[in-house]
Amino acid sequence: MNDFVAIVLAAGEGKRMKSKLPKPLLLVCGKPMIAHVLDEIEVIGPQRVVVVIGSRREQMTAALAQRDVEFVVQDPQLGTGHAVQCAEPALSGFAGDVLITCADIPLLRARTMAELLGAHRREKASATILSAVLDDPTGYGRLVRDDSGNIVAIVEERDADEHARAIKEVNMGVYVFSAARLFEALATVEPNNVQGEYYLTDVVEVMAGWQDKVISVPTDDPEEVMGVNDRAQLARAEAVARDRVRQRLMQDGVSMIDPSSVFIDADVVVGRDTVIWPGTHILGQSRIGEDCTIGPNAYIESSQIGDGSAVAAGAVVRASVVGNNCSLGPHCHVRDSSTLADGVRVGTSTEVVRSRLASGVRALHFCYLGDAEVGEGANIGAGCVTCNYDGRRKNPTVIESGAFIGSDAILVAPVRIGEGAYVAAGSVITKDVPPGALAIARERQIVREGWARRRFGAKDA
Ligand code: UD1
Ligand code: MG
Repeated sequence: MNDFVAIVLAAGEGKRMKSKLPKPLLLVCGKPMIAHVLDEIEVIGPQRVVVVIGSRREQMTAALAQRDVEFVVQDPQLGTGHAVQCAEPALSGFAGDVLITCADIPLLRARTMAELLGAHRREKASATILSAVLDDPTGYGRLVRDDSGNIVAIVEERDADEHARAIKEVNMGVYVFSAARLFEALATVEPNNVQGEYYLTDVVEVMAGWQDKVISVPTDDPEEVMGVNDRAQLARAEAVARDRVRQRLMQDGVSMIDPSSVFIDADVVVGRDTVIWPGTHILGQSRIGEDCTIGPNAYIESSQIGDGSAVAAGAVVRASVVGNNCSLGPHCHVRDSSTLADGVRVGTSTEVVRSRLASGVRALHFCYLGDAEVGEGANIGAGCVTCNYDGRRKNPTVIESGAFIGSDAILVAPVRIGEGAYVAAGSVITKDVPPGALAIARERQIVREGWARRRFGAKDA
């Protein structure tokens, strides 16, 4: 199918969004709208993808720098027809088909574009338009047909008379054209309309005049090609896209106790037999393994969780890697490039920052591990804190394998606790502890017999 190029129109301002970002970069399911469109286009394998950019184009090129697309600049923006003309030099010599779509229809699917392309070729058409019949066609260009049912023009809402306004069959803004005919027709289009713009849609009338074949392919799912022009439509697209993600994951063997309360971004991967409890967010490029239990109310962002792990209520994991059979939370915070090897247990209200925990490490109650390297099987007692910050810089703590850190120990970094060493509960450790040693760093206990009785008198017996 790859004898075609795709043009994505993304030069418009998107004024109604009232955003500092260009509209195509606004997120749906954690991913820019235009990235949704480009990912779907990629599935059907065009020879090339040309993105027409204009307003705030530096932001666009920066955001899409990693993608295999070419940019052409339209400045000023004189309409959709003009936008396509700007791409003509980039396509000189190309004689195949051109798929044109907008950057603001994030729900558009590859298979719909493939169907459009298929129909265009089967029918040997010059233009093939994705259409829909809408109860409320407001805002869309209307498909005007002659008495024999041939499409003879597309009339924009603003230019439509009463008769044309009543037409419910509309242009969804996705097209396939034969390149040569498209550019020939565009060359004759004039900006004779209310907006004074060069309309891409005017090529339809030109081609019909040439007796070229212009056809439409109706969609039965107008929601799919819903254009996003304001924040309310953005929220609608978000809702549909999120539901699609959940449906796909459930089809692939993931359980959700209450799907509608779960938020999962577009590119997240979740393994089979993982159960996701209500209120959970899994965002960014996260990957969750098989047989995990996630949530309720877990928040996982740009992180990996291995197989068989449990991420309990209220756990937050950001930009970190968690191994297999780990247990996190409730209410812990693992963040900033931390890595937890297999079988690590990070419990209630423990925070782990930029730290590496080897397999079997336990830090089950109210700990803070910052810039720490913790060896295999080490036990970190309740309330332990690594003092990694001296007011100027962050300092490392090394806890070697098998070490036992008693409850409420304070480890003032930089410091190293040797293999198998013990740190007594309540100690403030400022010097390295050799392997196998015991370190106690606290006041000795004093007991004054009878003190309370003398001071306050004997309590009632
Ligand atoms: C367009 C169609 C309309 C169709 C509707 C479907 C035209 C004239 N009309 O109208 O028939 O029903 O889409 O959603 O094409 N753009 C540029 N450069 C420009 C102008 C626009 O790149 O100079 C881009 C925009 O960024 C946007 C796309 O083209 O991605 C569509 O432009 P927009 O102004 O939204 O057209 P509509 O009025 O929605
Ligand atoms: Mg639009």
